[in-house]
Parts: sequence; C-alpha cells; structure tokens
Amino acid sequence: MTVNVHIARNAPKGVDSIGVPVGERGALPRSLGMNRAALTAAGFEGKSGQTLVLPSATGPTQIAVGIGGEELTAATLRNAAAALVRAAGTRTSMATTLADLEGVESATAAQAVVEGASLAAYRYHGMKTEPPAPALTDLTLVVGDRRSAGVKLGGERGSITSTAASLARDLANTPPAHLTARMIADKAVALGAERGLEVEVFNRDQLAALGCGGMVGVNMGSVEPPRMVRLRYTPRNPRGHLVLVGKGVMFDSGGLSIKPNDGMRTMKMDMTGAAAVLAAMTTLKSLRCKAAVTGYMMCTDNLPSGRALNVGDVLTFRNGKTAEVLNTDAEGRLVLADGLSMGVEDNPDAIIDIATLTGAMIGALGVKMAGVIGNNQPFIDRVKAASVDVDEQLWQLPLERSYRKLLDSNVADMKNVGGPFGGAILAALFLNEFVGDTPWAHLDIAGPMNVDADEGWLSRGATGFGTRLLIQLALDFAA
Ligand code: BES
Ligand code: MN
Ligand code: ZN
Repeated sequence: MTVNVHIARNAPKGVDSIGVPVGERGALPRSLGMNRAALTAAGFEGKSGQTLVLPSATGPTQIAVGIGGEELTAATLRNAAAALVRAAGTRTSMATTLADLEGVESATAAQAVVEGASLAAYRYHGMKTEPPAPALTDLTLVVGDRRSAGVKLGGERGSITSTAASLARDLANTPPAHLTARMIADKAVALGAERGLEVEVFNRDQLAALGCGGMVGVNMGSVEPPRMVRLRYTPRNPRGHLVLVGKGVMFDSGGLSIKPNDGMRTMKMDMTGAAAVLAAMTTLKSLRCKAAVTGYMMCTDNLPSGRALNVGDVLTFRNGKTAEVLNTDAEGRLVLADGLSMGVEDNPDAIIDIATLTGAMIGALGVKMAGVIGNNQPFIDRVKAASVDVDEQLWQLPLERSYRKLLDSNVADMKNVGGPFGGAILAALFLNEFVGDTPWAHLDIAGPMNVDADEGWLSRGATGFGTRLLIQLALDFAA
C-alpha cells in the first residue's frame, strides 16, 4: 500500500488528478484556467491546506491546494500534499508541482510532499474482509531540471520515512492477539535481516538471568512470554552512538490495578514506542546514517491473573535498584527501567526513550503533541530540532528533582507512583534513576499515539508518532 513516486518534467498522460499549488497572493498558474475572482467566488482563497476540486469532462481533475501567504515551509508542503490526497478521494494517480516551488530546498520539499501524500493515503485495512476503496498509488513530482536531482533524492527519502511510519502504524493498529511480544520480536528479526541490522532476542529466562526484574515482573500475569529485542546498526567509522528504548506493552489492561473498559480500548497501541524504534531503525542503512544506533524494544503485555504481580511487590531492575509497585498500571516505567539500564551499559553518547507512558501527559498537553523531559539541555534541544523538521510536535516539561521525594518508599529505593499531581514528571523522575550521567531524553507520546479521525497526514488510528522524529535525530546525530 505504498505510494510509488515518479519524477517528470510534465504531468504524464493518464494521471487522473493534478494538484495545483495556489498561494493567497501572486500569480495563478495558467493551467488552472481560473482567475482569482472565480476562485474566491468558489470559496477558495489559497489558505494553507484549503482545496478546490475542479472536475473536467475531458482531462484529469485539477485540484487547487492552498499554500498560504506566509513563507513556504516543509510543514506547509507536507500538509498541502496530504490535503490534495484527501481531496482526490478514490483517484489513484496524481501529478503535482508542489515540490517545484521556490522557498524550500528541493530535497527537503520533495521529502515533505511524499511524506504528506503517503501518510494521508495510509489506511489500516487490517481485518476487513471487503477490499479497500481505491487510494493514491502513484505520485508524480513535476519538476524543472534545476531542482530535479534534489527532488529525486528527497522523494526517495520521503518514501523511506513514510514507509517506516506506516510500518509503525500497522504494528500499533494490529489487534493484540495478532501481535504478541513473540510475534513482534519475530518481525524485528525478519526486518533486521533485510535492513542490515544485527538483531538479538531475549526470552523470559534470559531476561531473568540479566536481572531485568521489571520485564519479568510486568509479564507475570500473562500466559504470553516477554521479549526484549536489541537492534544494532553499525556503519563503518561511526560518528557517535545513540541508543533508543521503546515501550512495547503489547496490551495494557492495567494488571491487577485493572483499568475500566474504556481505558483499555486503545491499549493495543501501548507498544507504539517499540514500534517507532523498530520502524526508525529499518531506515538507517538506506538513509546512510553515519551514527551507530542501538535500539531496545521492551515487549510484554500487562495482564491480571493468579500469577500476576501484586500491589506491594518489590522488583529489582537490571541496574540493581528496587521499586515497590503500588500500582501495576504504572508498568511502562518498570519495563523502561530495564531497557534504559541495558542501554547505558552500551556507553552511548546519548539515550532516548519513547513511550505511551502517562495519561497525565495527555492532561498536560492534549493529544497533538508529545512531552519531552530530560537531564541534558543540549541533547533535548537536538530532539526538539528534529521534532520541528519532521513536524511531530514536542513540548518540554521540567525534570523537577525536588519532586523525587514523592517517590520515596518505606521498603524499596522508590515507589512506582507518587501523588496525584505531576504524574508525567514523576514518571520521568522514576526513569531518571536508570540513566546515570548519560545525556537522556524521554518522550511521552501517550497523547499523539492515535487520532480518532483523518486529519491532514494523520490517518485515523495509530499515528506512528515518533518514527520520523527518531530517524531525523539519528541522521542529525552524526552531524
Ligand atoms: N499506557 C498507559 C498510559 C496511557 C494512557 C497511554 C492513555 C495512552 C493513553 C500507562 O501504562 C498507564 O496506565 N499509566 C497510568 C499511570 C498511573 C497509574 C500513575 C496513568 O496514566 O493513568
Ligand atoms: Mn498502564
Ligand atoms: Zn501502559
């Protein structure tokens, strides 16, 4: 279901739609055959993301897309491409000059256009028995000679990054019985072999032998065994080493601290962090990333049973620290504790975790952006810069160390939950116990992990949030 990208000087014969970018001011493309007054009368002002479908009895449908009146950015182009695809409905082939506009560097522009189109065309067909309605399969970037080399390169990059984000979406959209920890580990092994990654899988006994008590503890209630997957990408003469750790809770019922039903409805997606790590890592070789990158996927489900972790039990993690589990639904931090401990043992230059960690972060920031918290401002700033480039929004919260006492426990080094307030920060303070002095950033993606309805390049269901951000961070990391 990926979109094929072509580069051409002119729109090829036979395409069923042509996307025509139109600004709020300035000359109109003659091919449109309409003047400003006619467009305005039709309710189209060229505002960013606006579309106007102009059917034709003879040729392809022209679709005007607004690119606004401000300075052009990659984000505007990504949104415009997505708007075009949505307006095109069931049309399957489109040509557009969107990547040929002045103002955004050609490769960056083409990448954004391909990402916007591909991610808007994405849908999870999953388990429906009816064939899906037609959607975009072919996108031609119409471009002049001067920009064509850059557009070709950027188009390829956009295909790679959007294929990765779509993989993360597919994994997160898959029902829990169809994607267990064992199954996602098998997928990682298969993908790793194809994409030049070294893959190691750790089973329950191996995790126990490593001292990963968080993974073993969270898994106790389940009949499905846990898996930790380590993926290594090692280029020749690596410049820097980055570790990624993803929360892979395949289904989060809450455990004995069970969630109400409606709280579980999206909890098949509680493995989005691990999916983003896997998906991002599949691109590194083809994008010629210069940094070494190691990924950890911490995969298990969180279920109640007669064998489940009890409230009040104490777990010992890989780094030797202990935690009293006073709420089994705060399980993400327990599996990440082991993942972060493992990761810092690799002596990386920086470590980043990505997790659907807290409802509190959704309360703080809403669903449009993820929260970032860390121990090293220069590294956090790099993460923020990557976030801007890929238009996956982040907002920083403080690692307020004076709150650490809220996690003090009578029986262990800490409790896994604090008071009723500042839950997103408390979760980060818990994770902070496992990173030592390694520059670290934590991404809490609970809010943007899914959307209820199509919107721009977000298609309903899992969003794959963080995949493109991690790719960008890894590419920038060597620079
Ligand atoms: N996976 C959830 C967080 C979550 C909630 C992600 C909603 C996406 C949407 C996490 O494991 C969890 O249950 N967190 C608890 C922590 C609490 C018990 C301290 C929460 O946020 O309620
Ligand atoms: Mn939970
Ligand atoms: Zn969870």
